[in-house]
Amino acid sequence: MKQHIELSPRLRLAADLVPQGARLADVGTDHAYLPACLLLEGKIPWAIASDLRQGPLNRARETARQYGCGDKMAFRLCNGLAGIRPGEVDAIVIAGMGGETIAQILEAAPWVREEKIPLVLQPMSSLPELREWLEKNGYAIAREQLAQEGDTLYVVMGVTAGEMGEQTPGQLWAGRQSRDPLRGEYLAQQERKLRRAVEGMAKSRGEETQQRRRELEQVLSEISAMKEEWQKWQM
Ligand SMILES: C[S@@+](CC[C@H](N)C(=O)[O-])C[C@H]1O[C@@H](n2cnc3c(N)ncnc32)[C@H](O)[C@@H]1O
Repeated sequence: MKQHIELSPRLRLAADLVPQGARLADVGTDHAYLPACLLLEGKIPWAIASDLRQGPLNRARETARQYGCGDKMAFRLCNGLAGIRPGEVDAIVIAGMGGETIAQILEAAPWVREEKIPLVLQPMSSLPELREWLEKNGYAIAREQLAQEGDTLYVVMGVTAGEMGEQTPGQLWAGRQSRDPLRGEYLAQQERKLRRAVEGMAKSRGEETQQRRRELEQVLSEISAMKEEWQKWQM
């Protein structure tokens, strides 16, 4: 029987933000490496591995079998949190999905906010949309950290019910100031991405595109200022 799972840096960071001793739901689990790893490490006593599709859920069962932790796991085939009842879990991970999908999953499960369940969210896209949705729907981003895999930086958020105050356009785009050592590189990447988008839009004559270009220019100047502040803080 295999005893140890080596998580990728992205999943390792998400796993590290799970509270000790929590009964965990891993939504969109696919291979279920994260909950299986935390069970093997003894950090959590029990987990629900859930997925929208049968193929990934079969992979989750296979991981549990290989690592001998199936007796501490339940498997649910469901959309988001639809198959998980309030009171069953103390923490939820939603990793490896688009920010808009994560927001839809939370929108459909208001009990998560009412019960103040701690969340670990790892969006792959639409981060500004997710940050804005959280702000406007009674969630606060308590922390954001970064994980690096090759050239890609992944954001992992620790989120709880609460007020976080209004985020500026730049903060929606790049998160609030954090002391993560990868923050400088993250801001530089976002700056490059925004600059490319703004330059691409400059060629278009459409009023809608020009309006969007002006908005992104504002975000770009805010992020450049954040990056400068970060560099000063590093000296
Ligand atoms: C890219 S995998 C991520 C797997 C793992 N969480 C990770 O971060 O490595 C995304 C998984 O989410 C599942 N998924 C997508 N939308 C979902 C939804 N609305 N509810 C539950 N699972 C969903 C997919 O079937 C897929 O297995």
